[in-house]
Amino acid sequence: MPKQLDDFQIADGEAYHRALYHNGDLNHPADWHRESVEHLIDLTLPHIHEGALVVDYGSGTGGSAIELLKVLDERDISIELVLMDPLISWFGKARELLGHRDDVHFELSILTDDSGNTVFRELGDVLSGRKADVIISSSTLHLIPISALGDLARQFSECLSPNGVFVWDSGDVECDFRPKDTALLHDPYRAVRKLLRDDDSRQAMLAEMAEEDAIRAERRVDRIFPVPFSVDAILDPLTEAGFTNEVTDHVVEFSNEDAERFILVPRLAEIAAPLMQGKVRDDSIREVLSIALSDMRKSGCASTDSYRSHWVYGLHSLMG
Ligand SMILES: C[S@@+](CC[C@H](N)C(=O)[O-])C[C@H]1O[C@@H](n2cnc3c(N)ncnc32)[C@H](O)[C@@H]1O
Repeated sequence: MPKQLDDFQIADGEAYHRALYHNGDLNHPADWHRESVEHLIDLTLPHIHEGALVVDYGSGTGGSAIELLKVLDERDISIELVLMDPLISWFGKARELLGHRDDVHFELSILTDDSGNTVFRELGDVLSGRKADVIISSSTLHLIPISALGDLARQFSECLSPNGVFVWDSGDVECDFRPKDTALLHDPYRAVRKLLRDDDSRQAMLAEMAEEDAIRAERRVDRIFPVPFSVDAILDPLTEAGFTNEVTDHVVEFSNEDAERFILVPRLAEIAAPLMQGKVRDDSIREVLSIALSDMRKSGCASTDSYRSHWVYGLHSLMG
């Protein structure tokens, strides 16, 4: 049974959903969301057939699943779609949006083990031994620690049918083919973090905390938009697990308004912690975001209205 969400979690899921869909309207995806996921869906569609078992790994509030289902519904193709995510606030919103559909299943990807530790579930256990035809993972792999990617590649290879494919996208991985006039998806938000690091009120609040609590709090903040790693950190473990690698890329414009909506999602706005949620914190974030975007214009990877985010797409099969 899904856990009851508190007010913060409900607002958090709603805000992320609204960062993807203007006013929360499924017919009005933000351009960056529609475009970035469209390329992933184009790669995925040739591998989806009637009755296919599809997994969306890191489904969040349902953004990637919603766009995939729109296309499949239009083509009258029915699939069984398993959504997996560890974040109950965002996953709760996915459940609210898609829970009415019999063809969509929700699997929280974490559980508490016998020792009371939070652990990630094995995909094989989630699927009870069934093999997926397609696994997608949209805008998620860059959030997974490098040390966990090898095991994840193994799980994907074990859980796919012989003709199956794994398809992913990420706007936040480094690679040597990124055009010079583009940025990584999270660059503006890492810049916000950097600009707020020495903010007087933030530093005053940290100074009032016990030193180890302050260090822990800062580490937690740094994990929200992790330092980007190379695309090889994803491709190498997939090769190791027996997958072929096909990589493509696209540039996606991310408007300034969408960037502001994105960074003010409560869970993401925690990069300003321990400043408390509210107008003062949001105003500080807005102020430094506009500095970050202006710096990006100066460095040539943004225009007046948007920044250019570089997205990498991977298509992998076990067929060789
Ligand atoms: C940016 S959201 C993408 C959501 C959705 N796929 C979309 O395209 O809208 C990334 C998701 O990855 C999940 N995530 C973060 N760390 C993860 C991990 N280590 N393993 C699995 N999922 C993770 C988050 O909870 C979040 O919902």
